[in-house]
Amino acid sequence: MAKKRIGILTSGGDCAGLNAAIRAVVHRAHLLDWETVGIIDGTAGLLQDPPECRVLDPHEFDGNIMRLGGTILGTTNKGNPFAFPMPDGSTKDMSGKIVDGFKALGLDAVIGIGGDGSFAILKKLAKKGGINLVGIPKTIDNDIGMTEAAVGFDTAVAVATEALDRLQPTAASHDRVMILEVMGRDAGHIAVSAGIAGGADVILIPEADYSIENVAKKILSIKESGRNFALVVVSEAVKTPSGEKFQVSYHGGEKRYGGIGHYLGEKIAEATGFETRVTILGHVQRGCSPTYNDRLLASAFGVKAVDLIQEGKFGRMVAWSNRQVIDVAIEDAIAAYQQVDLDGTLVQTAKALGISLGD
Ligand code: F6P
Repeated sequence: MAKKRIGILTSGGDCAGLNAAIRAVVHRAHLLDWETVGIIDGTAGLLQDPPECRVLDPHEFDGNIMRLGGTILGTTNKGNPFAFPMPDGSTKDMSGKIVDGFKALGLDAVIGIGGDGSFAILKKLAKKGGINLVGIPKTIDNDIGMTEAAVGFDTAVAVATEALDRLQPTAASHDRVMILEVMGRDAGHIAVSAGIAGGADVILIPEADYSIENVAKKILSIKESGRNFALVVVSEAVKTPSGEKFQVSYHGGEKRYGGIGHYLGEKIAEATGFETRVTILGHVQRGCSPTYNDRLLASAFGVKAVDLIQEGKFGRMVAWSNRQVIDVAIEDAIAAYQQVDLDGTLVQTAKALGISLGD
């Protein structure tokens, strides 16, 4: 078989396990005697002249790289190339330049490691430029459809669970209600999983309506039972009961979710008489050594992505289903955006354990 040259890029917010996925791609490709080219900073690297990239030498990719958080290739979650922000505040379609960049690298195929937003852009670029694209799902939010797991989620849940483990003793020592605000964008997966695993009393997620009265009722019932503390986990995209969302504006105009925890802290203190404290976990959930599960998932995904290229199967995303790696159409995965299923096992488990969703 002719020697292939494949490109790989990481796109969107980073998470733990990206380097393990890159490593798996490089090794699998090397076994097939193919070359892997790492594109720097996602599609942004292709806007440079010449495109920013480097050939990835398998010898760089021993087991140690797998333990590293972040992505050695760099990434970006800004700058849609079809409406690229220009310094004067206008936007410009830069997709042609990115396609030219892909072509200049002489790639037979590209593996994009991303979330649903990145896949939507990569798919459009692939169509425009006739690029052979294969996707590997990653996101701490775990909201990509058609896969039971995405790289990075398990680590984020482990971090959030550990945060609850750490908050519990200090809550009990001070007779406090601790509110932990976790990431996840519009999906409450991190909150539900970490909340159950970390022994939370209340889990609030964007998918479920809640009232302060119900949250207070649960906390007061804990007090009446003789317990002097409670743990509340809230997803960052949860709104006030009247529908106001909390966002932080960053320099340059970027907005991100954040701040609902402080609102709840005040309301819970008022309604229960408990002292409250708020922890916003933030990017701590993204940047650390991956759990063994994320290393396994990333490794299996990386190998399968290269195998799909070998089979000439493009426009596909590798996915985890029923203890196996399968592949699905990228557009199906994007279309099946996955929020928390309120009738699903985890929510039902939480309820059966007496955890309140505030509803
Ligand atoms: O999508 C991953 C994620 O970490 C979300 O959970 C969070 O809302 C967002 O990215 C934060 O983005 P940024 O890294 O730009 O602050």
